[in-house]
Amino acid sequence: METRRIKGTKDILPEETEIFLAAEKELRETMSKYGYREIRTPVFEYTELFIKGTGETTDIVNKEMYTFEDRGGRSISLRPEGTPSVIRAYLENNLYKKRNFQKLFYYGRMFRYEKPQAGRFREFRQFGIESVGSSSPQVDVETIILGLEVLSNIGLKRVELQLNSVGCENCRPSYKESLRNFLEPKLNNLCDDCRRRFETNILRILDCKKTNCRKVLKNAPTYIQYLCNECKNHFSEVQYLLQKTNVNFTLNPYLVRGLDYYTKTVYEFISQVLGAQDAVGGGGRYDKMVELFGGPQIPAIGFACGMDRILLAIEKEGEIKIIEKKLDCYIVTMDEETDEEGFLLLNKLRKKGISTEKDFLNRSIKAQMKDADRLGAKCSIIIGTEELSRNEVTLRRMSDGSQKRIRLSVDEIIKELNNNIKQ
Ligand code: HAM
Repeated sequence: METRRIKGTKDILPEETEIFLAAEKELRETMSKYGYREIRTPVFEYTELFIKGTGETTDIVNKEMYTFEDRGGRSISLRPEGTPSVIRAYLENNLYKKRNFQKLFYYGRMFRYEKPQAGRFREFRQFGIESVGSSSPQVDVETIILGLEVLSNIGLKRVELQLNSVGCENCRPSYKESLRNFLEPKLNNLCDDCRRRFETNILRILDCKKTNCRKVLKNAPTYIQYLCNECKNHFSEVQYLLQKTNVNFTLNPYLVRGLDYYTKTVYEFISQVLGAQDAVGGGGRYDKMVELFGGPQIPAIGFACGMDRILLAIEKEGEIKIIEKKLDCYIVTMDEETDEEGFLLLNKLRKKGISTEKDFLNRSIKAQMKDADRLGAKCSIIIGTEELSRNEVTLRRMSDGSQKRIRLSVDEIIKELNNNIKQ
């Protein structure tokens, strides 16, 4: 029996969960500030959705999907990314009829059968946005500013914005043609994958990280020279607005992204402290997907960021804040009788909103005190046999060890605890 976790997945233990929760809180606050509302779609969809949406020639669809047949004989896939699902839900629920400009965000698990390495998992968490309904370059810039702000609010400081345009169906054929003419005589110097891409998806060659391929690409024609007037104007306006809003960016003519649906603006958020897997987020405009899924002609743009990768980068930057959760009160007991009294008090205090713990292992007083310290308790309530006989308890302030006898009455204990907790 295999009892280990699956390669490329991880257990997020309570301490790390706290870090995720803090990041998720920042995420939701920032999204709400920019008017994005959360959408939750199923974790699996019909495989066709991704074939059509993400793209047949992408590595994601070709090599990385978790696909299976359900009992009804339909092909189902765990979602490798969120965009096709959100656009499907947008159409299926007629969101465009309710409001012609929709700003949606999501957060959840994605699944890709990739080669696991630092920052690359088979199950990972992504948050993303999809802004559907406007072709304005202002929206491109809004998504970028939001992306940078959310990363910064979560705690990531050293991020570079890389920018490119991948044009549209009008200008793409002439660029592809020029790239084909440039690469054809050099095919032997390209890696196997790129030779295959030459036939299936030539633009992806620009993205290859292999040294030989990079050498070949050095003098390759860039897309910018081939953009049609509309794409050129759009791209100029995006850059102008980024400058006007003081957003630094680097133009990267090799940035093409690993998904088929992009048109015009594409961008990536690159961490300056991560190694090979340094993209903490990426996105771009995809003006044809709504139509491709059978809807009206509605433009869209969005991005997604990998939460696991972001937290890794924050840790590398040395900025992970350890969230210190302090306990208000720890109840120390001595024997069976005081222990039962302690249990009753524990429940009464919790009901009144005071975070309280007690021992359940019949440990010595010394061990209970150590436990109280380990949990960061601000106060302990000691119920001794003699104290109980007088209907009293001892309240100990953990910071300086000062002690005080008080009446065993919930109201009195709460009053005293409140005086000490606030300090
Ligand atoms: P993507 O570039 O495939 O874009 O993924 C976005 C981010 O998800 C990456 O930059 C990375 O941080 C994270 N990520 C991807 N794969 C993994 C992995 N195996 N392990 C850990 N993190 C990973 C998209 O998914 C598009 N849907 C973005 C988009 C939204 N475009 C338009 N709208």
